[in-house]
Amino acid sequence: MLNQKIAAMLNDQINKELYSAYLYLDFANYYADEGLDGFAHWYEVQAQEERDHAFMLRRYLINNGVRVEFQAVAKPDKVFADHLAPLEAGYAHEQYVTSLITAIYHEAFEQKDYKTMQFLDWFIKEQGEEETTADDMVKKMKLFGNEAKGLYALNQELAARVYTPSATGPAM
Ligand code: FEO
Repeated sequence: MLNQKIAAMLNDQINKELYSAYLYLDFANYYADEGLDGFAHWYEVQAQEERDHAFMLRRYLINNGVRVEFQAVAKPDKVFADHLAPLEAGYAHEQYVTSLITAIYHEAFEQKDYKTMQFLDWFIKEQGEEETTADDMVKKMKLFGNEAKGLYALNQELAARVYTPSATGPAM
């Protein structure tokens, strides 16, 4: 049986991951509207990954006898000034998600809940990768995104992203 506080934090994290999916799909809406289909595609794939994270958390709770309870998913309401803005917002968002995962990990550590720590190890690694990727995208956009050829090449590069469901996933 999971500690109640940890169960509540994990339950809340499902909502945060679903919001992340919603947020990134909203980024995709913005880029599609701007004619940058590669950027839009990249964030559509990212939204699928975020949904997967929500499913993993839900499965872990169910496997541990917790009744999952959904909350409303917030409306993504960001207005973007330019093509760089969603990338910067994405990087900031990933840093925020890392802080949430870290807080749950810390609580699991305090409660000596080694099982949940092991489950969260996958998320800790994933967050590290996602932050690096988001930071790289900001850097590349700053370097190449200001002129048409560079933006075109970046759009092509991002269009090539392939959605692959995580083969291993967290320890359940
Ligand atoms: Fe599920 Fe991008 O954190």
